[in-house]
Amino acid sequence: MSPIEVRPFRRSDRDQLTVLVNAHAAAVVPGLAVSVAALLSRLERQPGESIVDPWVSERLTLVAQQHERVAAAAHLLRYAADERVSPQYRNAGQIGWLVFWPEGPRISSPYWTDARPAADRLIAACVRQLEDWGVVGQYAGGDLPVPGVYGVPEQWQHVRALYERAGFTHDGHSELVYAADVEDLRRPADPPLPGLAVRRSVGLNGTRLSALVGGDVVGYVEVEIFDDGERLARHSGWADIGNLCVAADYRRRGVATWLLGRAAEWLRLAHADRLLAYADLAEGDETGPGNTGERAFLQAARFTELTRTARGWTRLCHP
Ligand SMILES: CC(C)(COP(=O)(O)OP(=O)(O)OC[C@H]1O[C@@H](n2cnc3c(N)ncnc32)[C@H](O)[C@@H]1OP(=O)(O)O)[C@@H](O)C(=O)NCCC(=O)NCCS
Repeated sequence: MSPIEVRPFRRSDRDQLTVLVNAHAAAVVPGLAVSVAALLSRLERQPGESIVDPWVSERLTLVAQQHERVAAAAHLLRYAADERVSPQYRNAGQIGWLVFWPEGPRISSPYWTDARPAADRLIAACVRQLEDWGVVGQYAGGDLPVPGVYGVPEQWQHVRALYERAGFTHDGHSELVYAADVEDLRRPADPPLPGLAVRRSVGLNGTRLSALVGGDVVGYVEVEIFDDGERLARHSGWADIGNLCVAADYRRRGVATWLLGRAAEWLRLAHADRLLAYADLAEGDETGPGNTGERAFLQAARFTELTRTARGWTRLCHP
């Protein structure tokens, strides 16, 4: 019998699969991981995703078992073909994520099994499945159920190389993921503009803090604290910036810095001490076209770049 078997995920794979997934998450975001229970539930659906997830009509998790271990695993999604699905996703299929153990350090351990053949067998099975589904678009990514881990992060060169070997190409769209220690964020005591007030309300991607001048909203930030099953290291709490925007007429006057300072106070009360933020790499430099100021702002606010992640992997379908 072949030492590599590609087959659907079984419940008994759950611990090894979680270790494999968390090894990939840990290389991107420090100290964030998913629990076994949360991973299992995310194989069935993504409760927090209200736009794209309801379009999924089939889900399939495949593993490549090699010498008694889960050497590689992939989660496949098929999207419905009806009108409520956006044209890009309609009747499309996706490798939502694919992870496998990278090449081992042969110099130190001659017994380490190379998982690449298992990964090659697995991705071939994934492509066959997408073709069996008859989807009109074949996509791939690395959207793990761990905050901040999506696309193909630069730390996953082995996954990137595998996607390329299987005929997927990257459309050039990349994003930056940042992290900050909430303690390090500036917290100016006084508002930067006379009469500037803050209002807290329910937001779309977290609790919303709005900056008001004379009753008008001139900027807002939304911060979401993760609490849905992540396994947190060292009892630290994580949150992310869901939205951040200041009206064009009010920019470069310290409004966003002040809002983030208010958000930092709020997060400290919740014992959330790390904050993730995201920016588009396609954004221009500080003076160039397309500059929205986000990257420069995050750098000035003492965020550290964690990763550059490549989104938009597509494989040409051959009818
Ligand atoms: C990014 C953004 C939130 C910054 O808001 P802001 O209130 O102007 O930021 P601040 O005044 O607090 O800036 C603090 C520091 O960040 C840096 N910074 C902010 N915007 C910058 C820009 N456009 N270019 C260079 N540096 C910038 C500067 O160091 C600045 O300090 P300085 O003005 O003393 O030099 C704002 O530009 C924005 O809303 N951009 C659009 C973002 C977007 O597209 N969001 C999605 C939909 S709205």
